[in-house]
Amino acid sequence: MKIKTHGKIILIGEHSVVYGKPAIAIPFMDKELELTIKDSKENYLCSDFYNGKIKDLDGRLLGFKNLIKTFIDKYKISNKVKILIKSDIPLQRGMGSSASIAVAIAKGLYEYFKINYDINKIIDLASISEKYVHGNPSGIDIETIARDRAIWYIKNKETIDFPIDLDGYLVISDSGIKGSTKEAVSDVKTLYDKDDKYKSYVESLGELTFSAKQAIKEHNLKLLGEIMDKAQVYLRELSVSDPIIEEMIKLAKDAGALGAKLTGGGRGGCMIALSPDIKTAEKIKKKLNDLGKEVWISDLKKLKEE
Ligand code: MEV
Repeated sequence: MKIKTHGKIILIGEHSVVYGKPAIAIPFMDKELELTIKDSKENYLCSDFYNGKIKDLDGRLLGFKNLIKTFIDKYKISNKVKILIKSDIPLQRGMGSSASIAVAIAKGLYEYFKINYDINKIIDLASISEKYVHGNPSGIDIETIARDRAIWYIKNKETIDFPIDLDGYLVISDSGIKGSTKEAVSDVKTLYDKDDKYKSYVESLGELTFSAKQAIKEHNLKLLGEIMDKAQVYLRELSVSDPIIEEMIKLAKDAGALGAKLTGGGRGGCMIALSPDIKTAEKIKKKLNDLGKEVWISDLKKLKEE
């Protein structure tokens, strides 16, 4: 039995989504995780990030232990398993690596023990570990990865399939720097509580997501690019950008991107740039590659129907 999950990319609305504002996210099909479960004498987790007994998981990984324990207790499971994970989703880069692990483990357990499940059960179980990893997650990573579709999301309120029909390309580039989403979310909260100025930035980010929705519906790529640029200004003000991401954004814009911003928690992690055509996307890719950054080009037309 094998389970596959993918990464995710937030198009717009990261951080403000924690405060009940909407966000738009898409699955990132170029990055994949494969999970296998086998019979075992003890409960084991075998992966690049951890190799050992599940009962010894702690620190950042404590959430996965609790997710598994919750399942075992709920369904009174006595069989032991070995969970094997192979993932090419880089850790702590805003691509949803932890959520993809959580969703895969949740799905894998239900499948392996042949217990009926639906998407809500997967989301509920996977969310257990996300709380440990991210502190105060909005839930968008788990929702996007569990559904494997582009979504419009408002925390505890709304998850709607959001097919994107745009004649353009998203250039995704990894800064190579690990960013702690937990820390970034917590620092934004400190600013939010300290000064109304930061509250207004969060509000503005939320409004930009509504504008982005409209721009996407009108197939207005140029406007969407401008909205992404504006979102980056507020994210910068909220202290979650960093000099390397800024350099990558400038480079992408100079190469013809219609807009560019960080994606996910920030403070390193990944950048996304909107390109009007494949030629410009390749040009942006080359510039970022020359800077030593890994780059993927995603055809936005492919998000029309999944
Ligand atoms: C992380 O992918 C997105 C953040 O908005 C945190 C969250 O929504 O849980 C930064």
